[in-house]
Amino acid sequence: MSPAVFAHLSEGSMADTTLRANRRAFERQAIYNRILVAGEHGSTELMLCGQHFRHPFLLAPVAHQGLFHADAELASAQAANALEAGLVLSTLSSTRLEEVAAQTQAPRWFQLYFQASKDATLGLLKRAETAGYNAIVVTLDVPVHGVRRGSQRLGFALPAHLIAVNLQGIESGQARAISRDDSTVFQGYMADAPNWDDLAWLLKSTTLPVLIKGVTHPEDAKSLQSLGVAGIIVSTHGGRALDGGMASLDALPAIRQAVGQDFTILLDSGVRSGTDAFKALALGANAVMIGRPYIYALAAAGALGVAHLLRILRDELEITMAQAGCLRISDIGPHTLFSPSHLC
Ligand code: FNR
Repeated sequence: MSPAVFAHLSEGSMADTTLRANRRAFERQAIYNRILVAGEHGSTELMLCGQHFRHPFLLAPVAHQGLFHADAELASAQAANALEAGLVLSTLSSTRLEEVAAQTQAPRWFQLYFQASKDATLGLLKRAETAGYNAIVVTLDVPVHGVRRGSQRLGFALPAHLIAVNLQGIESGQARAISRDDSTVFQGYMADAPNWDDLAWLLKSTTLPVLIKGVTHPEDAKSLQSLGVAGIIVSTHGGRALDGGMASLDALPAIRQAVGQDFTILLDSGVRSGTDAFKALALGANAVMIGRPYIYALAAAGALGVAHLLRILRDELEITMAQAGCLRISDIGPHTLFSPSHLC
């Protein structure tokens, strides 16, 4: 891919502080290697929101996949089918949501961005329901789009042929007329950002499970649980939202503690291997999503590349589970991680 597209994909927000923190948080954790745990009945199967998954890796919503491969989201869907991975399709996909749903037998969730009008948001929601998506993921961590330096310097711009096809015919909303003394952030972006009432309205508008993506504070997690969402995704948007924010993995334990054991939590941002997935599960996630790794694989080798990556991740997770003495996903817990307090 061109340097500008690569920069757009790989970088975080502003100084990349959170991007780096996400990786460091995984590197800080260490897994106990247990011995003499034999078992032929090991399995990575799990249930999420009443749906069966063969393993805990989902493909995160990544916008405009036509930037990276001509087959775009259809290649990701093909790989998800082959490796039975959950697929979360972005509102900003290069392929119509109906077409992706028709080609996806794997569990498929639709990621929804609130639109400028309730009618437009509802329109997308109903299209996703009709197309057969099994859950809605509402992303809420980017009310203001972060600054990306490298891609701006290199002149990244979406090519004219790559439009957000799902939003064709939808009004992008009137740009607010702000006066000279107004802030583009507060009187601009934030004036129309969704609030708790909007989310309550959305929950009433669908019978599908709704998960909220972009949660890092335990109080937000508790409020969402009380409001009746089906689950949350602890995420820093891959370090592309708040720069200077904490790592997703560091946010996870307190959130798990706040919502209890039975609430569905996924995690993304920085997952690069099966051992990373294991660590996230040990600290309280039920499953993980991957973003950039599968887009690199998509760019390099299309559907085969993404399938190959998913196979590697799943194999790595199984090897890690075997070495950590965990035959099932439910065996993975905080006790599998080294903690200085375990030392006598
Ligand atoms: C994203 N992400 C994202 N999230 C979302 O909810 N809707 C979207 O349209 C996009 N688009 C998008 C584009 C690009 C280029 C990237 C890199 C990321 C965030 C994504 O779903 C996920 O949270 C992160 O990518 C996870 O972090 P890693 O695995 O990339 O470190």
